[in-house]
Amino acid sequence: MAIRSLLLLLCIIFLLISPSLGDRTQLKRQRKAIEISIGVGVGGSGSGSESPTASPSPTDDSCGCSAPASPPSSEPQPSDFPNLKQYYAYLVIQRFKQSITCDPNGVIQTWVGYRPCTYQGFYCAAPPDSPDTPTIASVDFNGFRLCAPTVAGFVDQLPDLALFHANSNNFSGPIPDLTGLPYLYELDVSNNIHSGPFPADVLALSNLIFLDLRYNLFAGSVPASVFALDLDVLFLNNNNFFQPLPADLGSSPVAYLTLANNGFTGPIPRSICNASKTLVEVLFLNNRLSGCLPYEIGLLSIATVFDAGFNQLTGPIPWSFGCLLKVEQLNLAGNLLYGEVPDVVCRLAKDGNLANLSLSGNYFTLLGLSCWDLVKSQVLDVRQNCILGLPEQRPPSECSKFLLRPKHCPVSHYIPCSLSNCSVKPAASKSTSSEYMTYKALHQPPPN
Ligand SMILES: *[C@@H]1O[C@H](CO)[C@@H](O)[C@H](O)[C@H]1NC(C)=O
Ligand SMILES: *[C@@H]1O[C@H](CO)[C@@H](O)[C@H](O)[C@H]1NC(C)=O
Ligand SMILES: *[C@@H]1O[C@H](CO)[C@@H](O)[C@H](O)[C@H]1NC(C)=O
Ligand SMILES: *[C@@H]1O[C@H](CO)[C@@H](O)[C@H](O)[C@H]1NC(C)=O
Repeated sequence: MAIRSLLLLLCIIFLLISPSLGDRTQLKRQRKAIEISIGVGVGGSGSGSESPTASPSPTDDSCGCSAPASPPSSEPQPSDFPNLKQYYAYLVIQRFKQSITCDPNGVIQTWVGYRPCTYQGFYCAAPPDSPDTPTIASVDFNGFRLCAPTVAGFVDQLPDLALFHANSNNFSGPIPDLTGLPYLYELDVSNNIHSGPFPADVLALSNLIFLDLRYNLFAGSVPASVFALDLDVLFLNNNNFFQPLPADLGSSPVAYLTLANNGFTGPIPRSICNASKTLVEVLFLNNRLSGCLPYEIGLLSIATVFDAGFNQLTGPIPWSFGCLLKVEQLNLAGNLLYGEVPDVVCRLAKDGNLANLSLSGNYFTLLGLSCWDLVKSQVLDVRQNCILGLPEQRPPSECSKFLLRPKHCPVSHYIPCSLSNCSVKPAASKSTSSEYMTYKALHQPPPN
């Protein structure tokens, strides 16, 4: 029942964006275009022809947002509003408005009157369980730069909310328990000043498909069950998460995953092969990951971005990486990798979509035959390695010191795909890194 309701609501919201709704994959493509854009609202206007519904008195409500028992006659009455849901939303919004301590863009001055659907940042749609009662279905405060000590008592008290986008505000305090919002499927609280442990309450949000917590001060560990959520997008970059990556990371169905700029440790789990049909872009960039590069990474058959730069990963590059036929950006710079850069990986620039192979700051000693051309064409960056005959390499003493250390990683020459005739259609145009969804997530909006 809940799933049917969600689908109905999804339809309502997406119909406003695009007339063609297809399967989940197509949905993802459309989402790719709309998510992440800052300040783009999704939703309808509300205050149309809806009629007030017969209803329990305000004092019956159990959500803690009751009106005063007998409001003075100057106070708005339920009958002043298009419906009772909007009356309750009004009360919640007005109470939140009182707690706002800064509003540089003058947003909250629009939060007046009996038509909350017209307030800046609020969008209405009818919830699936009451199709004649449009109410607040989406809150989009992206870029408003409002300050408030907490969003508890606000976002958790708008029971029909499907989207909460609050990128770039000064909201602090914990993320409230949102389990009373059955339709919530997008939660973006990025670039605020939320702190404390991972907000474990989000784990109960079974309909969530978009979770963006990046650029906050969350710290500690990420519960492994986050990777069991049925998400499309999971952005955790630029927090203070610190823990070994959970072994079953690969069970996550996400298409876009950013763990960059945290303190994650341990190896990249072999279970990543279980994401081979779903993972499109992944950023492990700038953590403290260690261990050998697992052969299973080469099985990520639809990945376009794989970025594990600036960690402490070691070992040779498994030849399985030659099967990353879709990969455009492959960044392993700033690690402890060594051996030969496999010819089969460099051939991806011709046989696949490889546009950028960043291996600088490692300890490679040899280049596969096809790699030399890529150095010339600047697709391959191998500066600061140990390759004889190339400029800008490490000093020989640094190289011999590293090369004398004992090495434990297996040399894997197994190629788990048929490469004989595997040329794929080249990407229409090679993107620059700022055009990828995950790399965009690394950019913090500038302060006003
Ligand atoms: C918002 O938070 C940032 C970071 O804590 C702080 O530097 C800034 O002064 C705050 N802005 C306002 C208007 O309070
Ligand atoms: C991949 O998923 C299957 C089924 O859930 C599981 O049995 C297997 O152990 C996983 N593979 C790895 C390498 O974790
Ligand atoms: C690969 O392509 C060559 C030349 O186009 C062809 O002769 C050969 O049969 C193909 N091999 C496979 C396995 O399709
Ligand atoms: C190639 O990738 C590296 C590492 O991610 C990045 O710093 C560089 O800007 C990229 N180059 C281009 C041309 O996209």
